Amino acid sequence: MTTHEAPVSEAPPVSIPPRAVPPRLLYGPGPTTIDPRVMEAMAQPALGIRDPLFLEIASDIQSGLRAAFGTANTRTFVVPGSGSAAMETAVSNFVEPGMKFAVFANGHFANRISDMGLRQRANVVRFEKPWGTVFTAAEASEFIDRERPDIVGFVQAETSTGAYQPGVAITDAAHRVGALVIGDCVTSLGAMPAQIDDNGVDIAYSCSQKGLSCPAGLSPVSINDLAWERLSRRKEATWSWYLDARMQWNYFDAAHVYHHTPSAVLYYAMHRALRLVEEEGLTARWERHRRCGLQLVAGLQKLGFMPVVEDPGHRLWHLATVAPPAGVNEAAVRERLLAKYDIEIAGGLGQFAGKILRIGAMGPLSTEERVAHLLACLAAVL
Ligand SMILES: Cc1ncc(COP(=O)(O)O)c(C=O)c1O
Repeated sequence: MTTHEAPVSEAPPVSIPPRAVPPRLLYGPGPTTIDPRVMEAMAQPALGIRDPLFLEIASDIQSGLRAAFGTANTRTFVVPGSGSAAMETAVSNFVEPGMKFAVFANGHFANRISDMGLRQRANVVRFEKPWGTVFTAAEASEFIDRERPDIVGFVQAETSTGAYQPGVAITDAAHRVGALVIGDCVTSLGAMPAQIDDNGVDIAYSCSQKGLSCPAGLSPVSINDLAWERLSRRKEATWSWYLDARMQWNYFDAAHVYHHTPSAVLYYAMHRALRLVEEEGLTARWERHRRCGLQLVAGLQKLGFMPVVEDPGHRLWHLATVAPPAGVNEAAVRERLLAKYDIEIAGGLGQFAGKILRIGAMGPLSTEERVAHLLACLAAVL
C-alpha cells in the first residue's frame, strides 16, 4: 500500500463562526489604529521577492527609514517580526558571550533587553533607576566609567513608563570607553525625534505598529559603519540563524540574496506609511504629536489623572502614562471604554500593572478631534 492509499481518519467537524471586527479605536501604546491609506495599500496584489518592483519598494523603505531615524546609515533595513525581533537582532548580533553589557534599566523594556543579554551569556550590569525617571549625563558617565562595558543598551522611549531618555547623556559616555550603543526606538520612531545619528546610537531598532501606524510584523533596524565593522570581526556565528543581521542585510544589498520570504503586504504597508511621513514632513508630524499630547495630558489632569513622569520635559509626547483618580479602578475604565465606545487604552506593565493607564494619541488618532473624542468618552465612563 502506498502512502497515498493509507486510510485517512475522518476529521472531526469544526465550526468557525464569522467574526466581524468593529471599528475599534486603538488609543493605547500600540498597536495603534492603522491609517486607512495603509490599509488600502495592503489590498494590492502580491509580488515575488525578486520582482524588480518589489526590490524598488524595499529600497524606498530603506530611504524612508533613514529619514525617519535621522541617519545616513547604509545598513538601514527591516526584519520580519514585531519590535522584539528587532531588539533580538540588535542584542544577538552585537552582544557576544562574555562581553560586559551595561543596561540602563528604568522600565519593562529595558528589562527585556537585559534578559536578552543574559541569554547571550553576556555579563549584564544594570544601572537601575525608579520607573518614570531618566538618566542624567553625570549619572551615566559615573556608571560607564566605573563599569567600562563593551556594549551599552538603553530605551529612548520607554513605553512602560512614558519617559523619553535623551540619547547623548548615555552615548557620549559609552563612546569615551569604546563601547557601542544599542538604542531602542520602538516607540519614538515616526512620532517624536529618534535622530539616531545626532544621539550617537550605533545600533537602533523600532517597530511598525506605533508611530508609523502600520500593522505589527515588520521591524526597522539601523546599524552604523562602526558597529558593522565590529560585527564583521565577530568570530562566532550569531546564534540565531533567522535574525543574523549579515544574512538579513544580504537581501537588501546589491545581490539581493534570498534569506527568508518577506511579507509583500507588510512591505506595502510600511512603504505607504513612510510616504505619509514624507508628505506630512517629519517635523510637522512630531509637532502634531506634541500638540495633541499636551491636549491629552491637560484633559486627563482635568479629569483627576496624575502623570507618572513628573518632569513634563521628560514625557513622551504621544503616550500619556497616568495614575487614575482615587477610587477609580483602571481595569473597569478600560473595560467600559471598550464595551461602550469601541475604544482601547492600556493598563500598566510589570510593577505598574493595575496601577496606571497608558493612553496614546498616535498616527491617525493624533488629531485635536480624536483626542477630544477620547477625553469625552473617558469623562462619560468615569
Ligand atoms: C520600548 C519597547 N521596546 C520593545 C517593545 C517590543 O515590541 P513588540 O511588542 O512589537 O515585540 C515594545 C512594545 O511595546 C516597546 O514599547
